[in-house]
Amino acid sequence: MEFQLKTLLLLAIFLVLLSVSEAAQCSNPIDYVLIAPENYDRNFSSLTKEGGRPLGFNASTWYYEQDIQNPCVKLSNTQNVEIQILIETNPPARICVRDQADTSTCGQGTVTKCPHASIANNMYFEFYCNAQCEEGDVNFWYRLAMSAPNEENWCFNQRSEFPSDLAPINPIVVDVKTTPKPNRADGLLTRTSPILHLISALACIFVLEKMSFCN
Ligand SMILES: *[C@@H]1O[C@H](CO)[C@@H](O)[C@H](O)[C@H]1NC(C)=O
Ligand SMILES: *[C@@H]1O[C@H](CO)[C@@H](O)[C@H](O)[C@H]1NC(C)=O
Repeated sequence: MEFQLKTLLLLAIFLVLLSVSEAAQCSNPIDYVLIAPENYDRNFSSLTKEGGRPLGFNASTWYYEQDIQNPCVKLSNTQNVEIQILIETNPPARICVRDQADTSTCGQGTVTKCPHASIANNMYFEFYCNAQCEEGDVNFWYRLAMSAPNEENWCFNQRSEFPSDLAPINPIVVDVKTTPKPNRADGLLTRTSPILHLISALACIFVLEKMSFCN
């Protein structure tokens, strides 16, 4: 009897440990495709283009309380490199990222982690939210970058730039586009109609005086 209890207890501990270690792993990771910094798309239009990668970032979504796997990517050939992780949420929200060793970083609006120590030949990064996050889906941009092997102080020279840093070339053009034209026409009509009323009233008075049938 006592032996069975011990076995059950050990089994329970084993199951708890298993679920904890599984929480930090990602199944079905997507291979992360690196872009060389000189090839980053700096065009504002890349923000809204399907599959666009503004400044080398990828778009993703973390889903709140849905049975959808956390976004998860694999970064290959990471032996002896320094890794940079940048995240920007849109609209600003809290988000976290962790690797296979459960080394995590969280941030509100943006996350900047450099260096993120590489501990294996392939690094896995899972984007997730914890209890401190707001209750809702989180849309975010993220970018992974890494140094050459054994390169020293690489992070020191890296800029933290985010998709929102891409400015439209001509902001005035964007303003005109966001102003719906029907509203402007409405405004014109309401401004015109008092004048029209005045004219018709004056015309009526004139006619009344001349022909006396206006009422
Ligand atoms: C940015 O992208 C738009 C649409 O793809 C294109 O028309 C425009 O020429 C690009 N601007 C620059 C500076 O490359
Ligand atoms: C990043 O975006 C590119 C272009 O849309 C896509 O081919 C690639 O699969 C994306 N990478 C990840 C890890 O989602």
